[in-house]
Amino acid sequence: MKDTRILITGAGGQIGTVLTQALRERYGSDNVLATDLRPLLDQDGPSAHLDALDGAALDALVQQYKITQIYHLTAILSATGEKDPQKAWNINMTSLFNVLEVARQRELDRVYYPSSIAVFGKEAKRENTPQYEVLIPETVYGISKVAGENWASYYFQRYGLDVRSVRYPGIIGYQSLPGGGTTDYAVDIYHHAVQQKPFSCFLKADTALPMLYMPDAIRGTLELMEAPAANISVRTSYNLSGMSFTPAEIATSIQKQVPGFSIDYAPDFRQAIADSWPASIDDSAARNDWNWRPEYDLDAMTRDMLAHLSPPL
Ligand code: SER
Repeated sequence: MKDTRILITGAGGQIGTVLTQALRERYGSDNVLATDLRPLLDQDGPSAHLDALDGAALDALVQQYKITQIYHLTAILSATGEKDPQKAWNINMTSLFNVLEVARQRELDRVYYPSSIAVFGKEAKRENTPQYEVLIPETVYGISKVAGENWASYYFQRYGLDVRSVRYPGIIGYQSLPGGGTTDYAVDIYHHAVQQKPFSCFLKADTALPMLYMPDAIRGTLELMEAPAANISVRTSYNLSGMSFTPAEIATSIQKQVPGFSIDYAPDFRQAIADSWPASIDDSAARNDWNWRPEYDLDAMTRDMLAHLSPPL
C-alpha cells in the first residue's frame, strides 16, 4: 500500500490549523503539505502558498508532493459570505471543483470536504434536525455547501471518487480564531472571560445552536476518513454534533469558573442567520455508520478552554 500523503487547503484557518497538526502526528510531518493563501507560520512540516482558485497550481503541488488525499478546508463562512455573495459563491465552488477535478484526474484515494449546519433553513425541523431533511438555506454559504455536498455525492456515484464529508456545527477551540462565522461568538466569549472583560454578544440570549469542541471535531474527522468505505452510507454529508447551547447558557458555564464574568446582548445581522439554523442536530447516522461519539459537554469544554487560555499564574 502506498503511503498516505495529504494536501490540506485553508491550513491557516480555524480548523485547518489544528487539523494540520493532528494529521502530521498521525501520518508523519513530511507527509502533510499545508497550503493557504495566507502566510503559514510556525510549520513543522512542508507548506506552500496556494490560491485554491488556481487549479493548475493545485495540480502542480499534488504531483510534486505525490499527494494521495486532499482535505479541502478553504471557504468563506456564513457571515462574511453575506457581504459579497457572488464572491463567496465563486471562492467556495471554484475551489471545490478544482479539488474534485484534480482528485479525479490524478486518481487520488480520498477527499475530505466539510459541509455545515448552514445547509438547513427555516423549513427544516429545528430540534434534533434529521440527516435527510429539506435543505433551503438562507445564506450563500449554506447554498454553496448544499451544492458542494451534492457534487461530492456526484463525484462518488459517477467517478468512484471517495469524497467524505460532515456538516460541522459551530466549532470551538483555544488554538485558533474563527473567521466570519455566525457561531464565532462562542470562541470570542472565552477570550473575553480570561481577560476579565465583559462580553457583548451579537446573538440573543436564548438562541440555541449546535456546537462541537475542537478535539471532538478533529477526532471525528479523522475517524470518518479512516472508516472502511463500506461503512459510509451518506455520500452527501453527515450530520455531526456534540452539544447545543444558548449564549446565556455558555455565559452561566463560564461564570461557574469566572464568577465576575458579565455578558450583554446586541444582536446584529447574524441573528437572522442563526434563527434560520437548527437548534440541535440528530447525528445518529454518523453514530451508526462509523461509531461517532462526542466526548465533551458544555462544562467540560469550558473547563478545558479556560485552562488553556488563562495566562500562567
Ligand atoms: N461556524 C460556521 C459559521 O458560523 C458554521 O458552519 O458560518
